[in-house]
Amino acid sequence: MFVCCFFIINLSANSYAQGVDIMSAEEAQSTFKLSERCPPSFELTADGVCLLLTQYQFYSSVQNKGLGGTRTNLPPHRDGFTPAQIDLGRYLFFDPLLSKDGSISCASCHQPDKGFSDDLDRSIGITGEKVGRSAPTLWNVAFVDKFFWDVRATTLEEQAQGPLFDALEMGNTPENLLATLLSNQHYVEMFSQAFPNVFEQGGTIELSQVYTALTAFQASLISLNSRYDRYAHGYHEALTEREIAGLNVFRSFVARCAECHQPPLFTNNEIAVIGTPEPEGRALDIGAEKTYDAPKLRGAFKVPTLRNITKSAPYMHSGRYDNLLDTVKFYNDGRGNSVPEGEDMLLHWHISEPNLTDEEMDLIVEFMGTLTDESLTPQIPSSVPSGLSVVDDKFQALNDK
Ligand code: HEC
Ligand code: HEC
Repeated sequence: MFVCCFFIINLSANSYAQGVDIMSAEEAQSTFKLSERCPPSFELTADGVCLLLTQYQFYSSVQNKGLGGTRTNLPPHRDGFTPAQIDLGRYLFFDPLLSKDGSISCASCHQPDKGFSDDLDRSIGITGEKVGRSAPTLWNVAFVDKFFWDVRATTLEEQAQGPLFDALEMGNTPENLLATLLSNQHYVEMFSQAFPNVFEQGGTIELSQVYTALTAFQASLISLNSRYDRYAHGYHEALTEREIAGLNVFRSFVARCAECHQPPLFTNNEIAVIGTPEPEGRALDIGAEKTYDAPKLRGAFKVPTLRNITKSAPYMHSGRYDNLLDTVKFYNDGRGNSVPEGEDMLLHWHISEPNLTDEEMDLIVEFMGTLTDESLTPQIPSSVPSGLSVVDDKFQALNDK
């Protein structure tokens, strides 16, 4: 059974490689014809939509498999978008047209070569000021069901409206965004390819289509082919002995990392109060207490995935740690080590006093390095329909300061 499925995945990856070539030629002519192929790891169905195929789908559920077991199934995920919707989302994601003044795109803060994050402790939006939190990775968001560090959005469609219309992030308004897109002939044509039913009935671009396309693109950012994955599927040599030792410390009941950062996604899609420190001089971020109006969730944040974690420093909602060893030291420094005086936080019971040795902490860091897989990184458009610069000069300039 597994032999069969590897074969299918390889086939779809090959056919996409041809698709990429065709797409670049078209981009050179600035016609912006949307792809008719699914991204690699997705299969085109008879209904014309792309469905994800991964080897994990052939394993049974996460239940009863023991802590941190390797052959566990994935949680439910988003897929079922057409190739055109996914590709339209790619152009939108990289187009600064989506911001109020055309200066930043989603990709300014979620950069493909930085783990779809940025290298800032807290991201910088159109005003040039830092926003409240660090940009999370977008790898494997298809499997996430609560968005933002404080889980205040429950769908990717709802989430996208956050940055688009936040005064500190992209600063746009729904009316202005719609008007800008409608006045761009390339986009009118591309939306009609991605949402043919609406246009055939005399309709035109709608904001909901913007959110659908962004969701379709983000749900295609799959990273499940790291060296760790090859190990999990039975190829022991994919990891070194030190990395396997690191995995064993990671999932041990001493360190307890895998209780929350559960394979295969290295998150359990839950929130937890672990008491990480705020940036110097900043007030306590109450996190999910605000979302649920629940004092017992004071300081609770989403358990982030650790996929491609070496790419997305700095770490935590605050961007407080700029390397992985410091994040591990945080856990090792003991329960509540960074809780401000006078704060009464209900720390999660798996946050303990592990007393790891320096060697064990190094092993955990080495193990986290095996979770890197960027093989399905989408192609960055060489140009976007607005004609604006894809590499965002304003952001780069600020970033260099
Ligand atoms: C100014 C930088 C910036 C821009 C521009 C930006 N983001 Fe983000 N993004 C962030 C930050 C910071 C967070 C976390 C905010 C929070 O938790 O309060 C975030 C969170 C997210 C999340 C939630 C991920 C998760 O796992 O919870 C998604 C999805 C996302 N952004 C997608 C987008 C999309 C799509 C766009 C473009 C429409 C976009 N972002 C534009 C900085 C940015
Ligand atoms: C009780 C659940 C829990 C346990 C146990 C746990 N974590 Fe976390 N982890 C979290 C939460 C929640 C966050 C985000 C906290 C924040 O932003 O303030 C996080 C953040 C991280 C991050 C930063 C990720 C990013 O994208 O910024 C790393 C790395 C990490 N944990 C590694 C580990 C390691 C290694 C262990 C074991 C020593 C561990 N975690 C144990 C819940 C947990």
